[in-house]
Amino acid sequence: MLHKIEGPAYAELLLAWYDRHHRDLPWRTSPSMAAKGLRANPYHVWLSEVMLQQTTVQAVKPYFTKFLAAWPTVNDLAAAPTEDVMAAWAGLGYYARARNLKKCAEAVAEQHGGIFPDTEDGLRALPGIGDYTAAAVAAIAFNRQAAVMDGNVERVISRLFLIDSPLPGSKPLMKARVAEITPNDRPGDFAQAMMDLGATICTPKRPACALCPFNDHCLALAQDEPERLPVKAKKKDKPVRVGAAFVAVNDEGEILLRRRIDSGLLGGMTEVPTTAWTARLDGGTEKAHAPFDADWEPAGTIVHVFTHFELRLSIYRAKVGNDVKADDGWWEPVTNLDAQALPTVMKKAISQAIPLAFAAKAEKTQQSSRSRKVP
Ligand code: ADE
Repeated sequence: MLHKIEGPAYAELLLAWYDRHHRDLPWRTSPSMAAKGLRANPYHVWLSEVMLQQTTVQAVKPYFTKFLAAWPTVNDLAAAPTEDVMAAWAGLGYYARARNLKKCAEAVAEQHGGIFPDTEDGLRALPGIGDYTAAAVAAIAFNRQAAVMDGNVERVISRLFLIDSPLPGSKPLMKARVAEITPNDRPGDFAQAMMDLGATICTPKRPACALCPFNDHCLALAQDEPERLPVKAKKKDKPVRVGAAFVAVNDEGEILLRRRIDSGLLGGMTEVPTTAWTARLDGGTEKAHAPFDADWEPAGTIVHVFTHFELRLSIYRAKVGNDVKADDGWWEPVTNLDAQALPTVMKKAISQAIPLAFAAKAEKTQQSSRSRKVP
């Protein structure tokens, strides 16, 4: 039997659930601490929210800890060399976030004396902070009554109010519903509670409705199938691009790396030399684009899915002498690859050519690559 309730009652139900079942996350202040007036550090909240965009909580945790150890305050991050920030971000993906993170830290340090603005509008004026991050930081760090919307919240709200028009068109309607039920007391806990509910109970598949604090009030549960929501506009198939990547190792056990230009995809990150990535699937000319003539041997293909296309890279490897010059790059010991700003696609490319390149022990790496069969 469905009970109709008013806006504030949703928050009451959800916050009572959150008080008992919230996740302990390193950037959070627990509800009992928040009740004593202790707010989460705005720098921690901002850093975590930027990292959590398109990335899971589990993946973010070690990066968050590493960043705070290296740069305990926003002023430290602002003063850090960009290459160090990019290297620390390597593996988290969506690298524009790291470049914007640095720019935002600089703006907070230089224009705001190292103190984050405490309103949604003030935050949105900073580089790299959009609607989502501004609302999340305003609510969580400054207790502002901001409507915070992410994928988890969209799922909860579309089910609770049976909004079945497709995303992204239905976003404004969903946001209006979230705004209606966001309390002015504890808006930060409310936002995080919606996210936790979406992540742990109101899951995309097989939601645990029996445990949900909204189960007496959820329109989708009463009248439809929660799993069907939210409805998303049909995605187009991703286009495919192809290219080749060249893994050269010299007699010193060093690998040829270079830095990508600052703008565009993976801007400023480190790579092995590659051809352009093209939608023309005619192939066959890859070796002509190698960084230099060598005995390039094919080492298979890797596939990496970016937001807007799927990349298929043919991998070539060559053993070269120490006399080969690195024109627009540098030779890096294979044992030091972990310290480089290598995005996941490049780690895959290198691992394809040198299977244990990222194993912890240098000795192990050398033995294993010697005994590996060449395809
Ligand atoms: N996803 C994005 N931000 C989050 C937060 N503050 N807590 C839990 N999950 C999140």
